Amino acid sequence: MDFPFSLIQSLRAAQRIVALTGAGISAESGLATFRDAQTGLWSKFKPEELATPDAFRRNPKLVSDWYAWRRGESLKAEPNAGHCALVEMEKRAPQFLLVTQNVDGLHARAGSRRLIELHGNLHRFRCFENNCASDNFDVENGRCRSCGGNLRPDIVWFGEMLPADGLESAVAAAEKCDVFFSIGTSSVVYPAADLWRRAKEGDAIVIEINKDPTPLTLLADHSFLGKASEILPALVEQIYVHQNRGAQ
Ligand code: APR
Repeated sequence: MDFPFSLIQSLRAAQRIVALTGAGISAESGLATFRDAQTGLWSKFKPEELATPDAFRRNPKLVSDWYAWRRGESLKAEPNAGHCALVEMEKRAPQFLLVTQNVDGLHARAGSRRLIELHGNLHRFRCFENNCASDNFDVENGRCRSCGGNLRPDIVWFGEMLPADGLESAVAAAEKCDVFFSIGTSSVVYPAADLWRRAKEGDAIVIEINKDPTPLTLLADHSFLGKASEILPALVEQIYVHQNRGAQ
């Protein structure tokens, strides 16, 4: 795959890179996205029945079982070449930050360290009733030993605020970056879908990598439509590997 040489040069010169990812980067690891027609989770399950505090209050067992199933799916999955290419970019770029909407934990398993999980993580829990300290959880039975209440997954449900720290750090990094990647996300869920605009206002180059067109496609400086696990490694190869070869 060939990329505009001017883009490769800009990426080689970039000091601060921010990458935002969504469910699409984990699709090739076998995990369903949310909004892909027929295959997306939201085509099979109703978010209002499974991904809201009210849904949990109404039927904690239904919601807990669904997240246990998703936890099992994500543990069976392996990071793919797209996840690994971002680990490589983190190692090579002077400053790099990965902001993910994914709760599957695959970026961390791939080796990403400079990582913000904006929407939480399936493999962590919180006390639903009283937000008690997490050192006294009976995860197996889904109970908080401190108050006897239910445990819920430590992820952001619809209608809930994102953790302030993570969001503030993501916004601050986006506003200062030279290059902003939007990878495998439909760019329709806010506030994550607004990060590219913050980057653009800071004169960053905005690059989209996505299987299907999104509201960002015509607004990005570059939009590469295709699979993240193919496009990202090819890009990393051209930015860093060819650069080294050129230097020899
Ligand atoms: N490579 C690149 N992009 C892909 C691939 C792939 N292999 N497979 C699918 N995609 C793209 C789809 O074209 C789609 O635009 O990934 C996008 C996934 O979009 P969504 O399913 O809407 O997922 P996401 O953008 O992460 O959703 C955002 O919404 O449901 C909530 O909290 C949930 O974090 C989630 C948020």
